[in-house]
Amino acid sequence: MAEKKYVGAIDQGTTSTRFMIFDHDGHEVAKHQLEHEQILPQAGWVEHDASEIWECTQEVITAAMSKAGITAADLAAVGVTNQRETTVVWDKRTGQPYYNAIVWQDTRTDKIASALDASGKGDLIRDKAGLPPAPYFSGGKIQWILENVDGVRADAEAGHALFSNTDGWLLWWLTGGPDGGQHITDVTNASRTMLMNLETLDWDDELLALFDVPRAMLPAIKSSSEVYGHTLEDGPFGGEVPLAGDLGDQHAALVGQVCFKPGELKNTYGTGNFLVLNTGTEIVKSKNGLITTVGYKFGDAPAVYALEGSIAVTGSAIQWLRDQLGIIKAAAETEALAGSVEDNGGVYFVPAFSGLFAPYWRSDARGVIVGLSRFNTVAHIARAALEAICYQSRDVVDAMVADADLNLQTLRVDGGVTQNELCMQIQADILGVAVSRPVVAETTALGAAYAAGLAVGFWANTDELVANWNESKRWEPTSTQEQRDAGHAQWKKAVDRTLDWVEI
Ligand code: G3P
Repeated sequence: MAEKKYVGAIDQGTTSTRFMIFDHDGHEVAKHQLEHEQILPQAGWVEHDASEIWECTQEVITAAMSKAGITAADLAAVGVTNQRETTVVWDKRTGQPYYNAIVWQDTRTDKIASALDASGKGDLIRDKAGLPPAPYFSGGKIQWILENVDGVRADAEAGHALFSNTDGWLLWWLTGGPDGGQHITDVTNASRTMLMNLETLDWDDELLALFDVPRAMLPAIKSSSEVYGHTLEDGPFGGEVPLAGDLGDQHAALVGQVCFKPGELKNTYGTGNFLVLNTGTEIVKSKNGLITTVGYKFGDAPAVYALEGSIAVTGSAIQWLRDQLGIIKAAAETEALAGSVEDNGGVYFVPAFSGLFAPYWRSDARGVIVGLSRFNTVAHIARAALEAICYQSRDVVDAMVADADLNLQTLRVDGGVTQNELCMQIQADILGVAVSRPVVAETTALGAAYAAGLAVGFWANTDELVANWNESKRWEPTSTQEQRDAGHAQWKKAVDRTLDWVEI
């Protein structure tokens, strides 16, 4: 049999789905990407059509394989990574979703979350699942579908209705769909539901009872790296390939950034920002507004845990400048526009569009632009938007330093916004530490490929992956401590203005 030269990764994200093919050095060979519709039925609601996502997935696989000129026989394995928390519930007899996927940014389950805290049950979730009760996570979204969509509860109890995040939805289709598809997820995705016990790595009956979720609708929880099954001859790969990696996208980026040692941290700049700190095999509970999550679990090896600071709105604030305010035509324009002024001109922008996530966890917060005077222009607003990305990251880094006694020397970064050089310089200046971007910036897809490749022996061990990591660019801080402290204090005042905005 010819040697297999490549590993593939499906990256099912919030705004698009891509399929990427990597070689043994971790270099990109080919990719194809398609956007899907963002369905916004009312304020605070965000939905996706899960069937459209499956259609896009098939198309990107076929297109990337054709660009690379390869067939299923050339792929050693395929991994899946995905937007986390986004909730799909479907009928396993037909493959039809009962309702649109409820996206992680959706705040409709706000009251479910606040009622849990009001009744004193929030601490059970914090203790067992490592998460604060929040509309962000899947548990309340499943409960909402069970309570609001006709027939789903009866079907769930009868074992016909299945839940998963988009990883399990795609794995189910790739392994046969209604004809015997496997209903599985991995520990990292399961750790975002408020339903999994971090110690047992299994669904927890007490947590299921809080949301009244029948166990029969939940996927089997697997490790992040093992052979789960194979793709099908008549599927998008046109042949059998081991499906061998599954990680939520931020966990995949941790792996793609080869943060395998406790104390190693990465920051991914996408629609939101997600800072994930490896804490080793120890479950560290945050005292400063971070969440505890599973970093990854490779096969039978013990789970590696992480502290995460999730920030809901960063890159999507730039999209808002483009789509809602119309002050730029493309996101990349912010670099020249924000760079045309010396500083923010006193303007601070806190884009708390979905409330504030880490470290505040205030779903009643709403966005503000403060400090305006007649002197200000759109350039100051653009600069304040870039600073908002970096100040929100600083708030999380400060929480990590306090929780884990972190001595941060360099922040490893990845994701689309890291192409914005000014933003990365601002990040280094606001943090007072160096910022480092790797050659392969697609670390999320790469991490899923690594997990899949490790499971089939394409890569022998994590040392081989570490050897693949190379820096492409580094930004050193140019600010003084005094400047950093003054800017951050002003930012904190702006954050205070966002709170208690929504009546609850
Ligand atoms: O928790 C949500 C996160 O997984 C979404 O990531 O990159 O698809 O916006 P992204």
